[in-house]
Amino acid sequence: MKKIEYPINKREWAPSLIPGPVVLISTRNQAKEPNVAPKSWLQMVAFEPPMLMFSGSKENATEKNILATGCFAVNLVDSSMATQVYRCIEWSGSERIRKMGITLSPAAKIDAPVVDQCRAHLECVLHSTKELGTGFIVFGEITRASIQEDILTAPPQDRYRLLDQIVFLEDGFYSRIRDAYQARASRDEHSAHWTRYVITLSRTEKPLTETLVRRHVAHLKELDRQGRLVLCGPYTDHKGGMVIVRAESIEEAKTIAEADPFVREGVETYALRTWELSCEENNHMGMG
Ligand SMILES: Cc1cc2nc3c(=O)[nH]c(=O)nc-3n(C[C@H](O)[C@H](O)[C@H](O)COP(=O)(O)O)c2cc1C
Repeated sequence: MKKIEYPINKREWAPSLIPGPVVLISTRNQAKEPNVAPKSWLQMVAFEPPMLMFSGSKENATEKNILATGCFAVNLVDSSMATQVYRCIEWSGSERIRKMGITLSPAAKIDAPVVDQCRAHLECVLHSTKELGTGFIVFGEITRASIQEDILTAPPQDRYRLLDQIVFLEDGFYSRIRDAYQARASRDEHSAHWTRYVITLSRTEKPLTETLVRRHVAHLKELDRQGRLVLCGPYTDHKGGMVIVRAESIEEAKTIAEADPFVREGVETYALRTWELSCEENNHMGMG
């Protein structure tokens, strides 16, 4: 395929060639007032001691606070926060925090707040700074990390989906980290990795009430929260619907299907099939 010249000016990039994770950096000023600002030019730089860096500007409140207090927290942003995070730079200081509707708690090891709504946090102590061109780089040593408990109790391949991190793309776009692919899986692991369960639902004669529809939707939302829901929706002829889920086994998929209020109340019956994905990422089951 022919390659063509692309601008080296990042402001002209579409698509972004180096997408970075969207985070909120939380700090305090010397008067102890909190500040929260989005960043995406962020990267790990060392294992020992664990260190990260981000690039900003000396004019920002964030960088000023870090220079004054010597610490900051990195709060991971998930897709439910994307809109408010992209918008929040219209305001600053306490007004930004208020308009975002976020709440703050003290960090455990540093004198900076963490954002309660974020699913993971890195508490950092300022290591050093470096000016490079227009960039002002802050290096921080990670002194503590914390993460929502249910993410760590999920199987490794599900943890990224539960973390639901977003990365910055240009022009107001962002992307969600939803899928984790095992690049070095054995044959068995491979097939388990691509297995999904299809629950097809069929209407019975029993009448459907609005309360029941809401309970069914609550069940689907809970599956989504647990990272188990792949796709769902009704047939447009109103004769039933389909729910595709991730599960560890057919038995677990059966438990999920039978927990659906539609099935429990007998307004729909279900059939369950084990389904293997054929897609670009698995080279169409090796046949592509
Ligand atoms: C999604 C997103 C990512 C951003 N990433 C960065 C970044 O990596 N570095 C930076 O200096 N500014 C970045 N900004 C802009 C700052 O957040 C913005 O200048 C903000 O007003 C700084 O706030 P502060 O003065 O309270 O620190 C980003 C903004 C958004 C919405």
